[in-house]
Parts: sequence; structure tokens; C-alpha cells
Amino acid sequence: MNRNHAFWGVVPAAGVGKRMGADIPKQYLPVLGKPVLQHTLERLLSVEALSAVVVALGKEDGFWPDLPFANHPRILVADGGKERADSVLSALNRLEGIAKADDWVLVHDAARLCITRADVLKLINILEHDPVGGILALPSSDTLKGVSDGIIVDTVNRNHVWRALTPQMFRYGALKEALTTAAELGLTVTDEASALELKGQTPRIVEGRPDNIKITRPEDLALAAFYLEQQCCE
Ligand code: C5P
Repeated sequence: MNRNHAFWGVVPAAGVGKRMGADIPKQYLPVLGKPVLQHTLERLLSVEALSAVVVALGKEDGFWPDLPFANHPRILVADGGKERADSVLSALNRLEGIAKADDWVLVHDAARLCITRADVLKLINILEHDPVGGILALPSSDTLKGVSDGIIVDTVNRNHVWRALTPQMFRYGALKEALTTAAELGLTVTDEASALELKGQTPRIVEGRPDNIKITRPEDLALAAFYLEQQCCE
């Protein structure tokens, strides 16, 4: 399909995954015989619309060369940073002179290996003519409580609360500017949408699949294996 703007993937993969308690970073733990990051990148590369995917890697990362992407024509690498947002910004800088300001960037966590091609295409199709962009998200099925010092101080109306997933899709120029401003102001942003929100923008949400989980704790590995096997039968 002819499109006005290119689409680029960005995968922050420079975290250490402290909550996993493993001795290798969580993006390299095996699921169904393959490292998490390999699953994630294979899924993203199956989306032909993505011209290339930039992977932000930790400086001490000795595992990447064992993955089959070293000479892949649609994979670029960048140095990761201290926080997730620093890794994303570094990957965006790698696209300097390659991506145009109005091109789309889809930022996707390395640790979300169950992302489906269908969900990426849904995000692209719904947002590609939007001025700002948006994110995959899920309505909350639990009642959410505001808590302070172990005491409930508030009950959040769950009709107004969604869980932010990835990919998060924004214009290259706007995203870079928003993350740069957040960094200059010393503000911590844990996803791309919050950086855009700080700029007064109003990102949209697109309902994603509940199996797009992020590997965070050891038990998530078995759950991811289950979802990947289920998806193969769809
Ligand atoms: O730790 P968390 O699960 O929130 O990390 C989300 C994603 O951001 C992971 O894919 C992780 O590798 C990445 N990350 C990064 N650079 C950091 C911290 C996290 O690329 N400094």
C-alpha cells in the first residue's frame, strides 16, 4: 500500500529487569526455546509497513550477538540509556537524517513478546491519519484504589482508567521533542504518551489484546509461553 509517511519501530531493550531476580536481563530469558527479545523482534518484523526497527541495547549487553539479527537489513541498533525514556530517545537519535519529522514511530517494549501483528496493524490503521497518534491500551477490569501508607484514600472510577500497553505510535519529530523536553525538565516519563501529554497533546487510545503482557515477574514467562502457543492456533 502507498502511504504518505514511513513507519519505524523502536524497541527499548536496555533494562536489567530487577523484578525478575534472574542473572541475565529479562529480554534474553528463554520462552519456548527462544529469547524474549527474539520473539518480540520477529513479531515486529512480520509487519511489512515497518521500514526498520531500532533496538536500544544496554552498554554491557553481551547477549545480542547471539541473536540472528546482527546483519538484518531492517534492524538498527543504538545505545540504551539510564531510564527507558533515555533508551527511546537514543534510538530516535539513531534515526536522525533517516526518518522525517512527520513519519510515525511505534515504540514497543522488548519485554512484550506476545504482541500480535494484528494489533500492530490495528494501531496503524486507526491512527495513521491522526495528527497526534496514540497507544494500545486495555480497560481496567479491576477496581482501582488510591493508596497512601497502606490505607485506601480513594477509589478510582474504573470506567475512566485504562492500562497503557505498547506499541505507542507518535510522529518522529513530536516524540523526539517531547522526550527531550521531559529530560531537560528532569521529569520521569514511563511511556511515550506521558511525554506528549506534558506538551498538552491528547493521544488516543486503541483497545489492545489482553495477551499483550510485559514480562515483569518470573511467573510471566510461563504465561507468555501459553499465550504464544494459543496464538499459533488462531
Ligand atoms: O522495566 P520495564 O519493564 O518498565 O521496562 C520496559 C522496557 O524498557 C523493557 O523492554 C526494558 O528493556 C526497557 N528499558 C530500556 N532502558 C532502560 C530501562 C528499561 O530500554 N534504562
